Amino acid sequence: MMFDAVPADPFQHGECRIKLADGEWELRQAQSLRKRVFVEEQQVFRISDFDHLDHDAYTLIATTSMLGIPDSVVGTVRINQTARGKWQGSRLAVDAMYRHSSGIGKDLIKMAVGTALTLGCESFYANVQLQNQAFFERLGWCVLGHVLVEGLDHVFMQANLNLYSPAPDPNHGCFHLFSKALPPEKSRNKA
Ligand SMILES: CC(C)(COP(=O)(O)OP(=O)(O)OC[C@H]1O[C@@H](n2cnc3c(N)ncnc32)[C@H](O)[C@@H]1OP(=O)(O)O)[C@@H](O)C(=O)NCCC(=O)NCCS
Repeated sequence: MMFDAVPADPFQHGECRIKLADGEWELRQAQSLRKRVFVEEQQVFRISDFDHLDHDAYTLIATTSMLGIPDSVVGTVRINQTARGKWQGSRLAVDAMYRHSSGIGKDLIKMAVGTALTLGCESFYANVQLQNQAFFERLGWCVLGHVLVEGLDHVFMQANLNLYSPAPDPNHGCFHLFSKALPPEKSRNKA
């Protein structure tokens, strides 16, 4: 039997799960996404972006899946308690294919702050790259000052915790529906 060659629409993930990473595969994928973003793309680090905070960090991830089986980590962020009740977020990264359309970054921040609140957070901070200041301000963060991180200008920002709720079960996490369809050029690359 012959079939005409009908161009198929590229496959698009429509959702992902945002949760605490617990398995080896999840942590390895998160590390590899961080390397792609902070070493290869932004060149903030030469070889590795690992530092002392990784030893006791909680890593949150966004995973897409196929037929219910996770197939890729497309977003990550880590959180650390730096003093009693005081938490810090860092290494927020979304796969370039999923940026500015899916809402993953926003929901990773929500889950990061929510997880910290569940663990007793009383204040939450981050050093934010200048080009992302407006993004954090839209999520209710305010600038406390300016700092240099790895020789690059950053703003030191604090989350308004009144706008966030504790995450009821960070290990299980939550489903995140992409807020917009991915633009065709992104989904074509992904197919
Ligand atoms: C910064 C980053 C995490 C944002 O994640 P994202 O998934 O692209 O963002 P979202 O889709 O959740 O964006 C939510 C909204 O904020 C907007 N937004 C995203 N990045 C923004 C920025 N840098 N400045 C202003 N607005 C921004 C989006 O357009 C979207 O707007 P909408 O609700 O009107 O559609 C992502 O771009 C990224 O990984 N960048 C490279 C690594 C990086 O810079 N990490 C942060 C270090 S501080």
